[in-house]
Amino acid sequence: QRGVATIRLDAAAADKSGHRHFMAKEMAQQPAILRAALAAYTDATGTALALPEGAGFDGVDRVTLVACGTGFYACQVAKYWFEQIAGLPADIDIASEFRYRAPVLSPHSMAVFVSQSGETADTLAALRHVQGKVARTLGVVNVPTSSIARETDVALPILAGPEISVASTKGFTAQLQVLMLLALQAGVDRGRLTPAALADHLSALRALPGLINQALDREGQMRDIARHLAEARDILFLGRGTMYPLALEGALKLKELSYIHAEGYAAGELKHGPIALIDQHVPVVVLAPHDALFDKTLSNMQEVMARQGQVFLIADARTLAAAGEVTHSLTMPEVPPLLAPILYAIPAQMLAYHTALFRGTDVDQPRNLAKSVTVE
Ligand code: G6P
Repeated sequence: QRGVATIRLDAAAADKSGHRHFMAKEMAQQPAILRAALAAYTDATGTALALPEGAGFDGVDRVTLVACGTGFYACQVAKYWFEQIAGLPADIDIASEFRYRAPVLSPHSMAVFVSQSGETADTLAALRHVQGKVARTLGVVNVPTSSIARETDVALPILAGPEISVASTKGFTAQLQVLMLLALQAGVDRGRLTPAALADHLSALRALPGLINQALDREGQMRDIARHLAEARDILFLGRGTMYPLALEGALKLKELSYIHAEGYAAGELKHGPIALIDQHVPVVVLAPHDALFDKTLSNMQEVMARQGQVFLIADARTLAAAGEVTHSLTMPEVPPLLAPILYAIPAQMLAYHTALFRGTDVDQPRNLAKSVTVE
């Protein structure tokens, strides 16, 4: 029997529980949320998946993932997972682009709409755009009563609880974990994952909240980096593989909270343009867990250092040992590479949070932004 997940909304959830900001509270909640959501979507033994009925991939020939904002970066990470774990072609798109194009959809495909609020106008319109043209629609939402949850064939709540801060934090990591579980389900259904391999992935996911707690404990070091970032006019974030969407997310969080211009780039694209910006005034945040690509990322970092860019290397001890002398670094816990994007969301969030505090901006309610964008 597949589990049916529910979410509890109550008035107490709207207080800051001793934190200075909702964002701080929501960042701190992440380990507990991920742990509970994983338990809700696995069986009693913790070795097999128990996703809602209909979230299966039998006969599905591709997956199309559509979202806005932070949710889109979660989709971008998920593309790597669907390809790597399940060998399933995955298309990703920004809802406001997708809905006005003529996307070529396979009638055997699954279309996944990722939305914290479940009410974003463009994402809802994108959902309506595909109805009747794909095998199944699936909503990865936080609000289980939302329009997207109601109008998709299958709703897959991320179980993060109410997110008050405009900048999404726990919503992002909870979206990522659910998308990882979907990619694992696709791997199982397509015969790419043995039960033992699945059990290994689930056990790695179970260990993740502990690693996230360790990362959260390094808040002081992240604050020290933020002190430097707060002085900058422009900041670059670089990463490869799943760290590329994390670089985009880090830059998005930073610009929306601190109003400092920040851009995320695929590290390999550095030489195709952004390297022209590098001088001693431009901080470059490099995300480089010890995965298959870390040495390539480090060579891009060297190109930045050769031009006097200020590098802030966020990596585990193994990458740091290989990196040699860097002025600023943050040591992250070791993590299986597939799960690195969930763990590296923590520094992406924390750097933005503390940079905003140094700049004195309104962390929970940044200017010009809304939590839920129900206009086009
Ligand atoms: C707004 C919010 C973002 C969010 C985006 C998409 O811009 O400020 O935090 O990522 O909308 O929202 P959704 O609810 O669809 O995930």
